Amino acid sequence: MASNRLSDDFLRELREKNEISEVIGSYINLRQQGSTMKGLCPFHNEKTPSFVVYLETQSYYCFGCGAGGDVITFVRNMDNLGYIDAVKSLAQRAGMALPEDGFDDTLSKRRRRILEANREAARFFHSVLMSEKGRGCLDYYLGRGYSMSTIRRFGMGYAPDEWRGLYDYLHAKGFTSGELVDANLVRKSEKSGNVSYYDNFRNRAMIPIIDVRGNVVAFGGRVLDDSKPKYINTSDTLVYKKGSGVFALNFAKDSGSRSLIITEGYMDTIALHQAGFKNTIACLGTALPDEQVNLISRYADEVLLSYDSDEAGQKAVRRAIQAFGRTGVKVRVLQLKGGKDPDEIIKKYGAERFRAIVDGAENDVEFRLGAIRAKHNILSDDGKINFMREAVSVLAQISSEIERDVYITKLSNEMNISKEAILIQVNSTRERNRRVQQQNEFKKIQTSSFSQQGSAVPIKALSAVKAQEALLACLMRQPNLYKRFEESLNVDIFADEFGKAVFEAILPFLQRTEPIELTLLSQSLSAQQISALAGIMARAVITGNTAAVCGDCIKTLIQEKAKTDVADPATLSDEEFRNIFKKDV
Ligand code: CTP
Ligand code: MN
Repeated sequence: MASNRLSDDFLRELREKNEISEVIGSYINLRQQGSTMKGLCPFHNEKTPSFVVYLETQSYYCFGCGAGGDVITFVRNMDNLGYIDAVKSLAQRAGMALPEDGFDDTLSKRRRRILEANREAARFFHSVLMSEKGRGCLDYYLGRGYSMSTIRRFGMGYAPDEWRGLYDYLHAKGFTSGELVDANLVRKSEKSGNVSYYDNFRNRAMIPIIDVRGNVVAFGGRVLDDSKPKYINTSDTLVYKKGSGVFALNFAKDSGSRSLIITEGYMDTIALHQAGFKNTIACLGTALPDEQVNLISRYADEVLLSYDSDEAGQKAVRRAIQAFGRTGVKVRVLQLKGGKDPDEIIKKYGAERFRAIVDGAENDVEFRLGAIRAKHNILSDDGKINFMREAVSVLAQISSEIERDVYITKLSNEMNISKEAILIQVNSTRERNRRVQQQNEFKKIQTSSFSQQGSAVPIKALSAVKAQEALLACLMRQPNLYKRFEESLNVDIFADEFGKAVFEAILPFLQRTEPIELTLLSQSLSAQQISALAGIMARAVITGNTAAVCGDCIKTLIQEKAKTDVADPATLSDEEFRNIFKKDV
């Protein structure tokens, strides 16, 4: 955290030069709606937009998951940065100079050094590849059909068969052993008290992984023969999380296509790029964590899964359908017939064959119906019923009505069941899903609103919390009200730690009757508190006389303070609970 504070003037300028809708708009699609903008929330998976950007207060809030805040909070959460790094990134975007001293930036310096070391390492590996030492590896690449221009474009390289080749090179360039270990380029060994360092990648074909901003964030290193392990990859560092990287997205995002082909690995992706499919990426790791799926869905409206035809590949297909199913991204599955992976198909039959596979790709509905059909004997009545039961649940997940109708008609003909009967089943399943989803999202809001306020202490009284929210919303919006209630307004009347923290953060502004911006509070409050505050501002619709509302809230808070009985949220009825989140206060 900051050792010295950034000035309000600096933060104000930072906010003015980073219009929130522009910054957020560079990550997700936003649509204007009056004085707000709406889009699909990048922090949770959803199909209908509940993410709102408020131009007036330069804040955002997601009614689905409760994420909210100012432009700094957004960048922090989106790019997974600390406070200072987020400020720096925005300052850089706006072309602003950072105040020279004033904050502790050890972590951001370490990150920068890792990226610099990675870039130098990529240069080193590439130049070794082009040298006499890299002869064998170059032959390997060329033998697999990669052209010199592909090798250069992807920055492919070779890690020499030496214990300290890279280490000595980067050491001479001024990188410390610690920095190289940080970057996972070098490993430390401690044998009987002797510390030594050695290269992590030795005698391997090196593929740099470059993020959408052009940083070399990690490497994959493949053996040149059949020995094990086949790959050594960069493990977790400050700039890279293993299993959540996306390979070649830096190229694919500029391919002009929002339909991205996903393969299982580096080699398939490079081969497809070379064959002209520049919209190809690889998910590094098969777990498909949310952050990976969210990153891809920023650049894709549709993904074409091009996984190996073996059992592991098909398992990965099912997992991917599930992961992308939670977003608005459409999924189609390529049927790789005649080869085990795209690389092999292109080599054996050429790019046209792969193009034909892409054009004929089944969408996920067909794929899933096919898989279900294979499970049941649809010639028997029982089998038919069980098949239909599962099919209905697939059809119910299709969001487009036209598309639903297409499949219902198809199934009706195929199974000889009336369209109406299927439609009734599908609609009632949809209704049930909708209710479940609503309940889940509601639960999420409940937990996030309470836990984000950072107090494990049970909320004292619900009407006090409600009054506190309304009061804070009023004061944020109209700081001049403070003077009218100065007498009774003090930190002790607030209901919980969160309320007190916010009040203390805004007090200096209230005393000077200055407009309050979330960004100016970003140094005094945690990211979670800022989020919760953005939520309060977004949910509060203050109608009528704001001063009167303020007065009522203060009265309620003082009264509730006096009460000793404590309401446990767990014992409340749904109705009482829901009341806290009512939009009107
Ligand atoms: N992988 C890995 N570690 C391994 C094996 C695989 O990290 N021991 C990852 C790599 O990202 C690899 C992907 O899984 O690219 C797919 O594996 P595989 O098909 O075995 O490798 P390819 O890169 O396709 O290599 P090749 O074409 O030579 O088989
Ligand atoms: Mn492969």
